[in-house]
Amino acid sequence: MDKNVLKNISYGMYLVGTQEERKVGCIANSLIQITNNPLTIAISINHENYTNKVIKKVKKFSISILDEKVDANIIGTFGYHSSREIDKYKDIDIEQLEDIPILKECCGAFVCKVVNEIEISTHTIFIGEIINTKKPTQTRPMTYKYYHEVLKGKSPRKAPTYIEEKEEDKKVVWKCEICGYEVAEDKWTENYICPICRRPANNFKKIEK
Ligand SMILES: Cc1cc2nc3c(=O)[nH]c(=O)nc-3n(C[C@H](O)[C@H](O)[C@H](O)COP(=O)(O)O)c2cc1C
Repeated sequence: MDKNVLKNISYGMYLVGTQEERKVGCIANSLIQITNNPLTIAISINHENYTNKVIKKVKKFSISILDEKVDANIIGTFGYHSSREIDKYKDIDIEQLEDIPILKECCGAFVCKVVNEIEISTHTIFIGEIINTKKPTQTRPMTYKYYHEVLKGKSPRKAPTYIEEKEEDKKVVWKCEICGYEVAEDKWTENYICPICRRPANNFKKIEK
């Protein structure tokens, strides 16, 4: 089998938000619309993500559709850190919809109530029925391909679409310790700024992959 075939599946980029006492959330690309009437969607969220635990409790979550101009820091913070350890919403412009946080700047957003949960080995598929929406904008939604090819972003191990690198692909890279972005050894300089989370070169560590 060649797992690379899965790289040709298309996705969008989303911020999944939810709220118990605290606002929590993570980045996800694994979202599809399931039905039109009622309006339902599905997301696949890793069991180890704190967001999974809170969605199971409150049975409600929001989806903010990221646009191509989204502050890359949002992807770094929400995609590479856990709400277990930090307040990801500190310093981020949000609104509340149905008591759940959504991004102020995005292509549109909606809130779902959970109508079903399916456990698959490492992930839970949450089926959500849309109960309220924020008006869409004319800005371009970010695709997963854009994230990889234009922003040169990576997918962490907990993303369902993570693909382990093959032995022969291993190389020396500089890795951003904030967001996980990796740059080839010859492209990194002491003045380098991370294109994803905008942190300076001293946040990078040289690693052999
Ligand atoms: C581009 C990208 C796509 C991701 N897609 C998913 C996804 O679909 N499902 C998932 O469970 N995690 C996904 N993740 C990983 C989570 O966002 C990440 O594990 C996050 O740190 C979890 O935070 P939490 O512990 O606060 O919930 C993705 C991350 C990135 C950067």
